[in-house]
Amino acid sequence: MVMDADRLRAETPGCQSGLVHLNNAGASLMAAPVSQAVFDHLALEQSIGGYEAAARQSHLIDQAYQAAADLVGGKRSEIALLDNATRAWQAIFYAMDWQPGDRVVTGHAEYNSNMIAFRHAADRFGIEVVLADDDGNGALDPSALEALIDSRTRLICVSHMPTNDGLINPVEEIGAIARRHTIPFLLDACQSAGQMPIDVGRIGCTMLSATGRKYLRGPRGTGFLWIRQDWIERLSPHVLDIRSAEWVAVDDYRIVDNATRFELWESNVAAHIGFGVACRYALDTGVADIWARIKTLSNTLRTDLAALPGFNLRDRGREKSGIVTFSHQHLPAETIVSRLRNEWSINTSVSATQLTRTELIEQGITQLVRASVHAYNTHEDINRLIHALNALATDQPDHHNRESGRNSSMGAKQDVLNEED
Ligand SMILES: Cc1ncc(COP(=O)(O)O)c(C=O)c1O
Repeated sequence: MVMDADRLRAETPGCQSGLVHLNNAGASLMAAPVSQAVFDHLALEQSIGGYEAAARQSHLIDQAYQAAADLVGGKRSEIALLDNATRAWQAIFYAMDWQPGDRVVTGHAEYNSNMIAFRHAADRFGIEVVLADDDGNGALDPSALEALIDSRTRLICVSHMPTNDGLINPVEEIGAIARRHTIPFLLDACQSAGQMPIDVGRIGCTMLSATGRKYLRGPRGTGFLWIRQDWIERLSPHVLDIRSAEWVAVDDYRIVDNATRFELWESNVAAHIGFGVACRYALDTGVADIWARIKTLSNTLRTDLAALPGFNLRDRGREKSGIVTFSHQHLPAETIVSRLRNEWSINTSVSATQLTRTELIEQGITQLVRASVHAYNTHEDINRLIHALNALATDQPDHHNRESGRNSSMGAKQDVLNEED
């Protein structure tokens, strides 16, 4: 099937305004059916009441679980709907019965919040965190990871696509190692869910966390956890309430036996319904087709950037994702991102190199520009970005807005957030 990019664009209100959105690794543009589902549910809550609306639309909530399960090749009972990827990841990490000396094995490009949680658990429970070496291209080296596994290793944690470079970690090889040593493998699929096909059975992970707002094009404040059936009852959630457990007697409770044991009673029902619609929309569009188009567009962007004087492509990895990072020899990343946004209506983001890019920090480069491509982007979007970058670097005035005769970026000047995610 060939992707109908025109249809994707026609169904995406944000593509109608002249905006070039290349901040999909931050948050993508929602498709109209997704935002409509959220609006509809909020309207229903407004008119009949929140609990009553949830009861009336319970089939839509059910569909959200099923869509998330279908997206990763899991079962409905293995899905928990949460409010972001970090909550999903933490639900597993903090449910582990950590003992002093237990080890977590991870890689250098692991997500910053996960790294903080490792340090936190090291301080609180005395665990050890060991980092497996790269393969020389930034991706985790599976044999280095395997060499670190010993009798104290309790968990393997890996980010599928790190937040600030183009690389893709070899998760199937890591999954095979995890299986061989019967160690649970928590996969952070925050940037890969919706971007590329994911099959938890093929990968061999034990748990997976992901967010709604990035490549899945769902509303903000949504995320999900998949946990393999045989692990659900092995993990006691670090918090319980009347959703995750039943109060069966005054002095007794029973934890529910599916993945909803990791949820809490209150949640943003409208957002979760929208999240389900976004998952189904991705599945109906065809995640393999989405991935093929992202690869084509991001490869074009990489080739064009490599040829642009003064710019340095900062991606790593042999196999690359739709997340493209670069810097300029003089212009700070914040300047580039804010001028692209304010003068050219092009959204990119600033990505801090932080922990994961020590070799850049040593060169004094602490921030990169991140341009992250989705399937609704076009070759024209890429051309416009390259043209704008060239103009900024040669300090040409704002041709785009002058020629189009409109005000800079959707009106007012905006501050550029230091977005690491
Ligand atoms: C690789 C990775 N993991 C986890 C997260 C955290 O996701 P969330 O903000 O939905 O908690 C992000 C980005 O935000 C990410 O890029």
